[in-house]
This record gives sequence, C-alpha cells and structure tokens, in this order.
Amino acid sequence: MNLMIASDYDDMSLKAANLILAQVTMKPDSVLGLATGSTPIGTYQQLIERFHAGDVDFSRVRTVNLDEYRGLTREDPQSYYYFMQEHLFSHINIAPDASFIPDGMNDDVQAVCDAYEETIRGLGGVDLQLLGLGNNGHIGFNEPGEVFEKETHCVDLAQSTIEANARFFASVDDVPTQAYTMGIQTIMNAKKILVIVNGAGKAEILKKAFYGPVTPEVPASILQMHPDVTVIADETACGGLL
Ligand code: GLP
Repeated sequence: MNLMIASDYDDMSLKAANLILAQVTMKPDSVLGLATGSTPIGTYQQLIERFHAGDVDFSRVRTVNLDEYRGLTREDPQSYYYFMQEHLFSHINIAPDASFIPDGMNDDVQAVCDAYEETIRGLGGVDLQLLGLGNNGHIGFNEPGEVFEKETHCVDLAQSTIEANARFFASVDDVPTQAYTMGIQTIMNAKKILVIVNGAGKAEILKKAFYGPVTPEVPASILQMHPDVTVIADETACGGLL
C-alpha cells in the first residue's frame, strides 16, 4: 500500500485528481470506477477544472459506479445517478452512454446484480477504482459482517450508515434502507485502487482498515491484500498513524 499524506482536503482532492488524470492520459479509454459521498466531491471539482483547462479528454473514458440506493429514481436528487450527473458527468465530455450504475428502481435483485457484473466484465474490468471510506469501514456499501460478499449484491444498510447519510436527506426516515453495491471481489478485481480519506472523524477507521487485521468486520481491510492500492489521506485523518 502506498500512503500519500495530504495537507488538507483540497490537497487530497488535487493529488487524487492528478492520479486519475495520469490514468486517463496513459489510457484514454480507461474504465474508471467511481464513488459518491462527500469525500470525492473536491476530486471531481478538480477533474472538471482540469477538463476546462484543456488538460484532459474524457471522450473515450467509461465509468462504473460502486453503488446505488434501492428505490430512488434517477431524477431523485439523493440518488447516486443524480449525484454523478451533478458533480461530474454534466460538466465534462464523457459520452452519455459510457457511464454505468446499478438500476435502483429494478426490484429484480438477481437481475440487477447479474447485469451489473456482466456490464463490468463487458467493459474489460476496472482500470482504476476510486473509493471513499465509510465511518464503519465500509467500501461502496459493503457493510461490516461475518463474510466478505463477493459480487454485486443488495445490502441492508447498517443503522450507522443510515444515520451518517441522513445529512443528505430531509430526515433519517427518508434514507433508503437498502442499496445495490459492487461486492468486495468486484472491487478487488480492479487493476488499481485509489482510496481517499479526510478528517479527524476517519482517523480511527483509517488506522483499523490499513494497519489492523484483515476482517469482514472492517470491509476496507481487505484492501491490504490488493497489489496496487494508493491511499491519499489528509493530515487529520492520519492523526492515529503519525
Ligand atoms: C457512502 C458511500 C460510500 C462512501 C462512504 C463515505 O455511504 N456508499 O461509497 O465512500 O459512504 O462517505 P463520505 O465520503 O461522505 O464520508
């Protein structure tokens, strides 16, 4: 694991965007695995700025997102489909049919999961997967549990995740209780992984995930087994390590 320490959120975002730009520059038809949450917003902002500066061309890039809430329409401002349009896709020259996210409105769980795995396989796999880190160590929506779930699946969100994500909704009761998420194996199959972490609130889980035992109780800990992981964390998140 390669740990890059950033001075603050903006520096973390800049460093992450630089690595994504390097990936797209080296391989213009890269398959990028993308994440939602508040952590990557600054990274996406940097990508937009660099696109407008003429530093990068996304026209051949394909993307797959980690996860989507179950039961939210694409038009719902809280859906991850909407999030990606708002924070990245509508601002860059990515082809409209080149971005994929699980279909949160399809109730046929098996069909959604099989189709998503097939989509990722059909693209030739993920070249670079961007990840945030949940407060409880989740990646995508792979919640702590007894086993590592392998492929895309429907998950019951942990109460702590529902509470953490309530800040984006009118009330905690509006937060969906289920989501579709890439599995741990799906994520581990990515050729490269880039994890971004910021803030004192993530210090303890960052230490557990990357310096503690590998256990499904801390889903991100599996990343210790991946051959090409870069973690970019700001100084406050690194508080427990230094
Ligand atoms: C969300 C997402 C994750 C994200 C995590 C952290 O629930 N499903 O992909 O990494 O929680 O979110 P944040 O970046 O807002 O701390």
